[in-house]
Amino acid sequence: MKTRVTELFGIKYPILCGGMYRLATPKLCAAISNAGGLGNITSAWYRTGEDLAEAIRQTRELTDKPFWVNVTLLPGMTMSEDQYHAYFDVIAAEKVPAVEISGTPLSRFAGGEYIPKLKEAGVKLVHKVGSVRHAIHAEKVGYDAVLAAGVEEGGHPLNENVATTVLTPRMAEAVDIPVITTGGMADGRGLAAALCLGAEGIMMASRFICTHECDVHDNVRQELIRRQENETVLYGNSIGLQGRALANETMMKVLEIEARQGGIDEILPLIAGTHGDEIWDQGNMNIGSINVGQSIGLIQDVVSCQELLDRIVTEAEEILGRVKSTFDAS
Ligand SMILES: Cc1cc2nc3c(=O)[nH]c(=O)nc-3n(C[C@H](O)[C@H](O)[C@H](O)COP(=O)(O)O)c2cc1C
Repeated sequence: MKTRVTELFGIKYPILCGGMYRLATPKLCAAISNAGGLGNITSAWYRTGEDLAEAIRQTRELTDKPFWVNVTLLPGMTMSEDQYHAYFDVIAAEKVPAVEISGTPLSRFAGGEYIPKLKEAGVKLVHKVGSVRHAIHAEKVGYDAVLAAGVEEGGHPLNENVATTVLTPRMAEAVDIPVITTGGMADGRGLAAALCLGAEGIMMASRFICTHECDVHDNVRQELIRRQENETVLYGNSIGLQGRALANETMMKVLEIEARQGGIDEILPLIAGTHGDEIWDQGNMNIGSINVGQSIGLIQDVVSCQELLDRIVTEAEEILGRVKSTFDAS
């Protein structure tokens, strides 16, 4: 399978892993890259530039294949500007193959100085966007590709709530750089559909949680397999940052607070990332915001990253072959 996305990153399959705070670490990252996709290291989990540099070195001990780093660029939310400077300096110094930015575009951080700096270091720039106008802006300021992030996605979908099926073709017709679909992608049907819609690759996050190489308690995996596509909720509009998370006791409380216009002080303690150990290490799925996407409805088993990626590509090829023969026969 060859697309502009496989060419851009030098990977075998057009399948990328999205940023996952705490979960996208060297072990999972390297397993995905070794399997032919693009593994992810999510910088926010590493509080300093030195810690991130160490994670990059660990990854390089586990794989000689390309991988990328996520930077969730929301200065002032939980991180200082200095931390972001340290991340970008490390990414450039280490010549990481690519960076996935979400939140603020790089052109609006530090006067845009990191766009030429990263490019000179050979780092490919990709922004995760939920609207066509944001994709056009990304192309204009020099990004190499855009992620079309539909409302189905886990994490923080844009509050315009456009579905992947509409966002992907609209973006593909609006920009010349490659478009990668994310949100609702978990199997070969998704990859085939994304390619038909004009994307040149897919990015998944929730699906990678149910792999052997993702370091989480087994309850987490079993719960995601058990839960269906209608068991996530959109929250956070009342505090200006929409999120999608697993419907659990905490999120029901958050929705109830938002419905009665309770304030940020009531909501933040419930969704702040302080419950990570209980959720991911101890398998308690009833607390905190567990930011998975609607794609959980498509997860049915726990496999290795290699099995997952091979299966997705084989399935997509079969589907596309079947569609083609339908036309050939008519
Ligand atoms: C557990 C989890 C943590 C995430 N953390 C981040 C993050 O720190 N930064 C970010 O940009 N996106 C984050 N995301 C969003 C993903 O990178 C991706 O855009 C989205 O999950 C894709 O939808 P899917 O999960 O249905 O595949 C997270 C997603 C999950 C499931």
